[in-house]
Amino acid sequence: MLIPSQRHLFDIPEDVAYLNCAFTAPLLKSAAEAAAGAVKMKSNPWTLTPPHFFSLAETVREGFARLVSCNPNDVAIIPAVSYGIAVAARNIPVKANQAIVLLQDQFPSNVYVWRRVAEERGAVIRTVPRPEESRWTPAVLDAIGEDTAVVALGNCHWTDGTFIDLVEIGKRCRQVGAALVVDGTQSLGAMPFSVPEVQPDFLVTTAHKWMLGPYSFGYCYVAPKWQNGTALEENWLNRADSENFAGLVDYKDDYQPGARRFDVGEVSNFFLSPVAARTLQQIHEWGVENIARTLKAKTSAIAARARELRLLCAPEDARSPHMIGISVPGGFGKDLPRQLAEKKVYVSVRGTAIRISPHLYTVDADIDRLFEVLGAAIR
Ligand SMILES: Cc1ncc(COP(=O)(O)O)c(C=O)c1O
Repeated sequence: MLIPSQRHLFDIPEDVAYLNCAFTAPLLKSAAEAAAGAVKMKSNPWTLTPPHFFSLAETVREGFARLVSCNPNDVAIIPAVSYGIAVAARNIPVKANQAIVLLQDQFPSNVYVWRRVAEERGAVIRTVPRPEESRWTPAVLDAIGEDTAVVALGNCHWTDGTFIDLVEIGKRCRQVGAALVVDGTQSLGAMPFSVPEVQPDFLVTTAHKWMLGPYSFGYCYVAPKWQNGTALEENWLNRADSENFAGLVDYKDDYQPGARRFDVGEVSNFFLSPVAARTLQQIHEWGVENIARTLKAKTSAIAARARELRLLCAPEDARSPHMIGISVPGGFGKDLPRQLAEKKVYVSVRGTAIRISPHLYTVDADIDRLFEVLGAAIR
């Protein structure tokens, strides 16, 4: 099903063409209301009870688990992608001379910690260069060998949405005994993802892009085999029996079940959890398959308009449904950001390319305005 415009659910003025969901999503009006309720609760803290410290965290854990078809027990709540990737890096054994496979120009939160691991353990970073026509999957499969300890990447490249087939990459990882660490930030919520099909070891995301959620809030799926691992911090909420506030100094060695031992401290996050819960609920109401199909119609229309102007983009079968990179030989010229801003068109401009990331609030008039500016810029 194609979802009709949902712009009425957002607070986006008619003259704004916000085509930058991959940067950060606008907040749903209903999520802003949830945030107001959270502020009210903090204003009246006598309404806060011990069960509140757990209930919302469990709601978002379940909402995320449903999104990726895993058990809520396998989900930790984290503040940032860098945190979840650090959990993975702390627990996956990497030996001297083993390889850690990354993509060229990967987002830094999924690079820096691996550089540290490589330096500390004498391992090597193997960076897959951008292949011709951005067909990443065969290039990544070629880079994975018997020496590979970790493959850490996303479901699409964050700069232009070019697609990476994680089901195939997961299979290859299992053949050679490599751990698969997925940064789902630029795909979860906009592209279907199945934990049973991909079988990642860790799947990490922030909530504030395609999941339409708050900043400083995210999720980390941890495969059961890693759930006895070491957390980045030792907090009291994720210890056994923490529900019993009267017994907190009766210190416990055991943790709460599953991946909860990896939860960030103060996981209850009274301001952000209600927003995250509402946005997950909305995504489930729409359905990720429907979101993907609808966004694909928009990015395909953008690709067709780009081709009319002789602009370049990856072929359809090398793209993910929800975002698209467009470039022009020699670059767009340094005036483009100003020209876009003047017309209130918001995309990400990176050197010679732009990244266009629509959502269900994007209407045809937004795309028309983008191409008015691009047409004028290349004339
Ligand atoms: C692919 C990708 N991963 C991660 C992030 C965010 O990382 P962090 O939560 O560590 O700031 C972004 C964007 O901000 C991103 O595009």
